[in-house]
Amino acid sequence: MCESRTIWWDGGLWLIDQTKLPGELIPIKMSSVRQLIEAIQSLRVRGAPALGAAGAYGIALAADLSRTSNPFDMIAELETAAEMIKDSRPTAVNLSWGVDRVLRAASSRESTEEIREAALREAEEVAEEDIRINKSLGKNGAKLLDDGDCVLTHCNAGRLACVGWGTALGVIRSAVQAGKRIHVYACETRPLNQGSRLTAWELIQDDIPVTLICDNMSGSLMRKGRIDKVIVGADRITKDAVFNKIGTYNHAVLARYHKIPFYVAAPLSTFDQRHEEADIIVEERDPEEICSLAGKRVAPEGVDVYNPAFDATPLDLVTALITEKGVFRPPLMPPV
Ligand code: MRU
Repeated sequence: MCESRTIWWDGGLWLIDQTKLPGELIPIKMSSVRQLIEAIQSLRVRGAPALGAAGAYGIALAADLSRTSNPFDMIAELETAAEMIKDSRPTAVNLSWGVDRVLRAASSRESTEEIREAALREAEEVAEEDIRINKSLGKNGAKLLDDGDCVLTHCNAGRLACVGWGTALGVIRSAVQAGKRIHVYACETRPLNQGSRLTAWELIQDDIPVTLICDNMSGSLMRKGRIDKVIVGADRITKDAVFNKIGTYNHAVLARYHKIPFYVAAPLSTFDQRHEEADIIVEERDPEEICSLAGKRVAPEGVDVYNPAFDATPLDLVTALITEKGVFRPPLMPPV
């Protein structure tokens, strides 16, 4: 199984440019906070836990690049960077969680050098913790999968969406590592194709059997009895709903109708128990993402477009939430 990291610090902040996959595996170095924000908004780095690490490292980057010798000025610079990074994508709660955690760790230091060191130390801890957490979550979830299962997943909740291992794909990896034969149906995930570009690529890298389908094929496959379980990741889990890539809700409704378990795998950092579905801003993206396919226009000029990046699935459609602290069947929630 591939164990390399998707975001790391090596004399500066590096990440895999996910927009170039599956064609090219290109690491890019972030030379400014603005460049990191561009990378977040254009989905060079994406997926809730990876955004958590990107936010955490973003504060370390701001500290590293700061030229002030005054600790108060440096903290003020970090606070400005924090607001800009948090505003770059609103839905995945991990982004602001990662930013705030590192900002907190850095803020209590007395010299600029201490602030720099504390920020980087905490960001590295966020990143290393992510892999450890995903492996525990994976082990907990693997118990829910049986040898021979066909599992449907949506978007990419694999190692690319995290620092490593993955959440929904982490559960599948852990089950395969435990000797179970699992076949994955990966939904292509229009409009940006995280399923076909990233999930299919990751699974092929790990020799896990995968069949790519269009998003609108899941109902037909369920009706034919070819899906045993659905596992997806999450961008935010509020008191009443799971926010994840647009299209997740469709699979959840279909899974309920066909009596198929619908699992959500996410670390505790994705839980936002202070808010409800109605409070959350769902990012709406450029209409161009729907109007063009592989750089070619596929819709008439001037057409009206609706392009939300995420949808909300009510918790009563979720069979269980798989976390590093165990498996919770709603209305039961993990202690956060
Ligand atoms: O727009 P994206 O690609 O960042 O959306 C990602 C998802 O919706 C993932 O399913 C989610 O972040 C979970 S990743 C472990």
